[in-house]
Amino acid sequence: MIPDDLHQRLREFGQDHLIGIIEQAEPAARAKLIADLQAINLAELHSLFQQRARKDALPERDRIQPMPVPSMTDAERAAFHEAGIKAIVAGAVAYLVVAGGQGTRLGFDDPKGMFPIGPISKKSLFQIHAEKVQALRQRFNARFPLLVMTSPATDERTRSYFKRKNYFRLPPQDVLFFCQGTMPAVDLASGRLLRESAAQLCLSPNGHGGTITGLHAEGLLDELDDRGIQTISYFQVDNPLVNLADYLFIGRHLREQAQVSSKVLPKTGPKEKVGNFLLVDSRCAMIEYSDLPDEWALETDDTGRLKFWAGNPAIHLFDVGFLKEIAVDTDRLPWHLAKKKVPCLDDAGNPIKPETENALKFERFIFDALPQADRWTILATERENEFAPVKNKDGVDSPATARQLMIGQAKRWMREAGVEVADGVTVEISPLFALDAIEFRKKWPGQKEIRKNTYIS
Ligand code: UTP
Repeated sequence: MIPDDLHQRLREFGQDHLIGIIEQAEPAARAKLIADLQAINLAELHSLFQQRARKDALPERDRIQPMPVPSMTDAERAAFHEAGIKAIVAGAVAYLVVAGGQGTRLGFDDPKGMFPIGPISKKSLFQIHAEKVQALRQRFNARFPLLVMTSPATDERTRSYFKRKNYFRLPPQDVLFFCQGTMPAVDLASGRLLRESAAQLCLSPNGHGGTITGLHAEGLLDELDDRGIQTISYFQVDNPLVNLADYLFIGRHLREQAQVSSKVLPKTGPKEKVGNFLLVDSRCAMIEYSDLPDEWALETDDTGRLKFWAGNPAIHLFDVGFLKEIAVDTDRLPWHLAKKKVPCLDDAGNPIKPETENALKFERFIFDALPQADRWTILATERENEFAPVKNKDGVDSPATARQLMIGQAKRWMREAGVEVADGVTVEISPLFALDAIEFRKKWPGQKEIRKNTYIS
């Protein structure tokens, strides 16, 4: 039977359609539905649905300032660089790759991290990231973990993939998986919970903001503290160009005792589809491209430069103590609502594949943590050296564009080492060979010309 308290909540919060369904379900399906429903905050869901028409109010323009362009003296740069190296050598930085997304736009059957992105090697995104971590550990003979955030949609396959691949030579005890939480999808018109099968509600990952609650729920924030790790270096699985060996970024974050630090990219145009870093009431904040009014996006300064110039490549550093504060007070991160096409069962229990948006999904975003920080830094970075998003199957931000960017970087490193690469030739450099241009130059055996496709490992 349905427990009384659940029964009451189903009635109170507009989910009474499930009562008959549960009562008529097979025992196993009934138990599963009841367990899943007990874990859902139906009151919160109801209130989010009631407020669905309310558009998040943008702060008034006079509360917003463009992000100042960061500047540093040479002496500061040197000191930050050194502090960053020190922290890595001490094992005080953990790397965290978020890989819980459903990757719907890419249309790849397995978790996105398993996508073969290497232009020649066909190495997966996971392998490239794991090898960067491994190379960094070797460079400094240091020990620090790689955290991998999965979701119920990617967890099992991700763990077994790493196991099958022998953790890409990382010690298994230093690869820490954790699974983010989910949020149910509800019917767009009625707010009723949807089911994908007789025993299963439609649940989807709760957004990359789920990183904070996920880390906390699995006790990893305490574990990091116990290991003496103060800083988490956060990046997304779908960016094979991310630079994990950025000592200056890490060192500046630590020396300035920042709670959060973020990389920013000069935008390619006013409406580029990336989040906009800016200041709201003097705090670091982000406004999504879709929410930034055109007239603001087009504003320029006296030199003709875009005022809102700072795009978001989703590369951050977080202080572990700061994440702990947010994790126990998650209401500080809002839920974002998105209309989506969600395959589900209709009232008669038949599967439907909607042609138009039929459901609302709820997600938290990691960047909503930024305005919570009293102390923060940003660092401008070069797109061609650090951002190759793999989002779509074809066209912009696709595997094809990401591979071109990877090849472009490899060619630049080779050119800097005095190597000429013939036109039309593909080159790829393994992270285990070099993590940056300087290392490449040091290790390159001296050949002056590359005339055929070459993988350097
Ligand atoms: P995106 O927002 O681009 O989503 O995620 P996605 O799942 O990769 O792709 P689409 O939108 O379904 O096509 C950016 C990064 O955040 C992670 C993703 O795995 C990716 O690394 N992410 C996103 C999570 O880890 N969990 C989430 O709930 C959402």
